[in-house]
Amino acid sequence: MPLRKVNVVILILLAVAFLIIVQRNLLNLSDFLHKENPDAGQILPFEAELSKDGRQKMERKAEEIPVLITATEDRLGAAIAAMNSVSQNSKARVVFTIVTLNDTADHLKAWMSKTKLKNVKYRIVIFQPELLSGKISKDPKTLEATKPLTFARFYLPVYIPEVEKAIYLDDDVVVQGDIQELYETNLKPGHAAAFSDDCDSASAKGIVRGAGNQNNYLGFLDFKKEAIKKLGMRANTCSFNPGVIIANLTEWKNQNITQQLEYWMERNFQEDLYSNTLAESITTPPLLIVFYKRYSSIDPMWHVRHLGTTGAGNRYSPQFVRVAKLLHWNGHYKPWGRASAFSDVWDQWFIPDPTGKFHPVRRHAD
Ligand SMILES: *[C@@H]1O[C@H](CO)[C@@H](O)[C@H](O)[C@H]1NC(C)=O
Ligand SMILES: *[C@@H]1O[C@H](CO)[C@@H](O)[C@H](O)[C@H]1NC(C)=O
Ligand SMILES: *[C@@H]1O[C@H](CO)[C@@H](O)[C@H](O)[C@H]1NC(C)=O
Ligand SMILES: *[C@@H]1O[C@H](CO)[C@@H](O)[C@H](O)[C@H]1NC(C)=O
Repeated sequence: MPLRKVNVVILILLAVAFLIIVQRNLLNLSDFLHKENPDAGQILPFEAELSKDGRQKMERKAEEIPVLITATEDRLGAAIAAMNSVSQNSKARVVFTIVTLNDTADHLKAWMSKTKLKNVKYRIVIFQPELLSGKISKDPKTLEATKPLTFARFYLPVYIPEVEKAIYLDDDVVVQGDIQELYETNLKPGHAAAFSDDCDSASAKGIVRGAGNQNNYLGFLDFKKEAIKKLGMRANTCSFNPGVIIANLTEWKNQNITQQLEYWMERNFQEDLYSNTLAESITTPPLLIVFYKRYSSIDPMWHVRHLGTTGAGNRYSPQFVRVAKLLHWNGHYKPWGRASAFSDVWDQWFIPDPTGKFHPVRRHAD
């Protein structure tokens, strides 16, 4: 009798061992299937670099939210705070593609890997300024001064080739909501992108009266120029702010959006088509032309902007700023600078630079 019991126990143990082996082999198989997935397929005109988790992240791209952001050396803290706010407030898995210049890559890597951002999924892509040569400037020196990274958004499908839908964020934003909500912004059929309209009620409050026609096409394009007249666009059409973009990259590629943007960049360079009262970045006018009446809208609370246009006297109430899903300090007064509005909100997301190179300037600092 005891012998029988021992046999049964041995049989059960064998069965369990057998199941464990089968399961491990199955796991290995699925592991193998997933590893077939390429990041080897990077045929990009620049160096790409994957973070430690790069491989894993590629396996699950279906449930991931791709976000493109740029990182500029003299305001590297901005991208850091923006990414930190996104990842802290998001339940979904976010993968950042960070476009930067070669000279900044090491600084950025140190900042990411020595702080809690080491758990964030990201890859660093080096922007080649030569991409823009002949389009915005012939001289490499002035090219540098024109902030070449602001044009990275024109090349979204080049930098994020493997997905259909992606988000672009300016570095001077803070995200307070779950970015999944923004990602689910509905793009109408045939639309390659969604932007926030400059006439939406939420952000119109932030515009300073008398600061010019900054919320329509007239503020960005020179309607006296023949090339602009020929397009037949209405000058009083609301402009949009390209600091937050949701893009359908399939449509983007089908419509050759990148080539169209490059075309208008070059024509402006040759014929000076942009309004000379242009207050914001020169990346906006070509986007306004190419997407004229052909874009979807972003929920206004997902792009509350102009926090940087009026300094500390900004007219938003603290209550409104608290419930906004995304805050954008476009304008001259940056939250890492001396006189910005709501810099205390930005401070909550900023992570000090472990290399000690970057410091926010504070009113009471010196
Ligand atoms: C599973 O794969 C790993 C390498 O990926 C290998 O070391 C291990 O022996 C494999 N296990 C089995 C049970 O085949
Ligand atoms: C990029 O920077 C590294 C050092 O950080 C340097 O060795 C390399 O030559 C640079 N590459 C280019 C294309 O400038
Ligand atoms: C993107 O555009 C393509 C082509 O028009 C369309 O088939 C697809 O459903 C769109 N995807 C999303 C997420 O809007
Ligand atoms: C996009 O470019 C390709 C190749 O240059 C061309 O064949 C196609 O007609 C273009 N599509 C649109 C919508 O302009």
